[in-house]
Amino acid sequence: MLENLTAQPEDAILAMMDAFRADPRADKIDLGVGIYRDAAGTTPVMAAVKQAEQALLDQQATKAYTSLGGDPAFTRAIADLVLADSIDPALVTGVGTVGGTGAVRQGLDLARLANKGATVHIPDPSWPNHRAIVQAVGLGCKTYRYFDAETGGLDHDGLIADLAAISAGDIVLLHGCCHNPTGADPDPAQWDQIIDTIKASGATVMIDLAYLGFGDGLDQDAQATRKIVQQIPEVIIAVSCSKNFGLYRDRAGAVLVTAPTAEAAQTIYGNLATLNRLAYSFPADHGAKVTEMILNDATLRGTWATELSDMRVRINTLRAELATALRDATGSDRFAFLGSQRGMFSRLGATPEQLRILREDHGIYIIGDGRMNIAGLSSKDIPRLAQAIATVCA
Ligand SMILES: Cc1ncc(COP(=O)(O)O)c(C=O)c1O
Repeated sequence: MLENLTAQPEDAILAMMDAFRADPRADKIDLGVGIYRDAAGTTPVMAAVKQAEQALLDQQATKAYTSLGGDPAFTRAIADLVLADSIDPALVTGVGTVGGTGAVRQGLDLARLANKGATVHIPDPSWPNHRAIVQAVGLGCKTYRYFDAETGGLDHDGLIADLAAISAGDIVLLHGCCHNPTGADPDPAQWDQIIDTIKASGATVMIDLAYLGFGDGLDQDAQATRKIVQQIPEVIIAVSCSKNFGLYRDRAGAVLVTAPTAEAAQTIYGNLATLNRLAYSFPADHGAKVTEMILNDATLRGTWATELSDMRVRINTLRAELATALRDATGSDRFAFLGSQRGMFSRLGATPEQLRILREDHGIYIIGDGRMNIAGLSSKDIPRLAQAIATVCA
């Protein structure tokens, strides 16, 4: 039977990781895979995580199963972190998931249980796994205009026009902050217009929040999500702890859902718990427990917030340095958008041929759509990177 299987398309990012590893050049630069790296080029375990893990090792008395929704203290802590006091906690439910990917999957599976005819509208472009998961779940997938490649900013008029055409029963997927792959986020006034437009359409909102704290700050990055839950009665929020807690491989995440009534929230919880049961029974606990311990302990939380702030400042400094170096190297403001965008990623706006030359002649690895992981850069590489981009892309 299994001989009926055909080969799956190669994952572009993983293929590029292999090619990067095999490249013998000492000065090669990896802007492909989406992980944060510090000035030394490493992705260390955060100090707050180490301390929480040590305490967990000392204190944990059992590894008996939690509940189908995972540890309720974890989902509550995540709901507090994301939503603060923007909404009555009785209207919020949620379960632990396998990372942010699991949260997207369980959230979309929940939507399918509610309306199997729903179409999910994702931004163009979006994280490639969005379309893949929507299709795997069996829902329709359409894109709405989002990015203006000319300016490196939002195509706000196109975005609003496309959102206005969406109907109730469908789902609009939004990136809560730090849009992947473009780094282009709406400003507060644009968010207001987006929310008004979706509210008028009656569509359900799904927010993917994988980079909370990587843009302008924890509260600033949660602002749009908090406004949305205040104005739109049904919101599904996929939260990842991979980047902001550095827990990539521990797979901590949660799907939160807001409902118009506490009763509806309970029914939603039951459905999410069943979806967990069907997929893996219980979500992994280790990373979730560590996250909960950090968020619920003032000292650990303070340590974590400082470490997160250091990461954010580093990314935004790298952005500013790269934008300045490119202005100097090209004599134009063409790449100024890199300085004002937020999060780990931006799109260079290069052709596949230019990306090939950057890779083959300069050892600079950028994936096929031109997405660069700025958070993977080192300051010392910026002059060479800017010179290479100016030479190849001018
Ligand atoms: C937009 C977006 N959503 C969700 C995720 C999922 O993250 P994870 O499953 O590693 O927690 C990612 C990770 O790259 C992402 O970029």
